[in-house]
Amino acid sequence: MPGKFIRIREGDEVEMHLDNHPDNKNPHNIDLHAVNGPGGGAAASLTAPGHSSVFSFKALNPGLFVYHCATAPVAMHIGNGMYGMILVEPKEGLPKVDHEYYLMQGDFYTEGKNGEQGLQPFSMAKVIDEKPEYVVFNGSVGSTVGDKALTAKVGETVRLFVGDGGPNLVSSFHVIGQIFDTVYPEGNLSLATHNVQTTAIPAGGAAIVQFQMSVPGTFIIVDHSIERAFNRGALAQLKVSGPEDKLVYSGKQFDLVYQPEGTGIRVAGQGGVPAPAAATKAERIERGAGVFANNCQACHQADGQGVPAAFPPLAKSDYLNGDKIRAIKTVTGGLETKLTVNGHEFNGVMPAWSLSDEDIADVLTYVYNTWGNSGLEVTPAEVDAYRVKAKSQ
Ligand code: CU
Repeated sequence: MPGKFIRIREGDEVEMHLDNHPDNKNPHNIDLHAVNGPGGGAAASLTAPGHSSVFSFKALNPGLFVYHCATAPVAMHIGNGMYGMILVEPKEGLPKVDHEYYLMQGDFYTEGKNGEQGLQPFSMAKVIDEKPEYVVFNGSVGSTVGDKALTAKVGETVRLFVGDGGPNLVSSFHVIGQIFDTVYPEGNLSLATHNVQTTAIPAGGAAIVQFQMSVPGTFIIVDHSIERAFNRGALAQLKVSGPEDKLVYSGKQFDLVYQPEGTGIRVAGQGGVPAPAAATKAERIERGAGVFANNCQACHQADGQGVPAAFPPLAKSDYLNGDKIRAIKTVTGGLETKLTVNGHEFNGVMPAWSLSDEDIADVLTYVYNTWGNSGLEVTPAEVDAYRVKAKSQ
């Protein structure tokens, strides 16, 4: 998937033979968008299992065209990947490029949810609702990544023949980190546009995009309706090798501490209604888990492991377990010094949290009683006693 790429010239007289294997159960046909004639050849090519049909056409218009099966129910035949593309080159041909690739997007409708294992029957209900489980390039998730990625070298020119088989979705075709030097929108070779970021490809339509690689790297090809790329499979890769050009693209030059107010530690907190007092240590731990999820988890992570070189771990932290009062002062007063936790150095900024005594007691007690830490309890009275009072801004 997709079907074979057919390449002809404007003015060619083409004889199509469509064979339907005797083991098949369904009739099939072909509608070529490159054909001028009823159904694009659909009725003339309708072929029962064990039969073979022939028709011919003359390629009057140059361009990149989709072809597909048009047997009822059409959405089911297309939705099973019965499509491909036919390029009708203009009489003079296309200019030479270093690489030409064929990519075709399609949406797929399975009874099982995305990722469910085993043979998946086609869902007519989902295709009618236009709610695909998969949106992919060239027929499967991961068809064009890793060892199967498209390749090029710095300085080379790439031409992508991109089609959208549908049956339903329009593609917002985009290559992350690569501007298209030239696009022939809708596969129309008489209309080139230049310097394009994303080109729309309708269902049953195509585009030709061209660009020259200026720097090396892995370039991610997506449908920029981005949920489809990162959750449903519409993602391919173009791997480019060759020398760096630091003027065109420097890569990361600095990683600095960002202090928005310009005065070091800022105050972060929730405001709002203070939490009711916890009656027991167990209740304190339970409430603390919620405070942690809302305030601390983004940096220190759900497993308390932090992020290497950025956010210190809380799990089995020598800094934390060693000194309860220091922990209260750190949370209420923030930090902007280098510190060493479990032998690793960190240099960042932790905001001063303007949470209530209760919230801070709860979250510290949660942390002290999770991930193998020392099991201490921190009370609101202790937080009140050792709290670092907020500086006036
Ligand atoms: Cu078919």
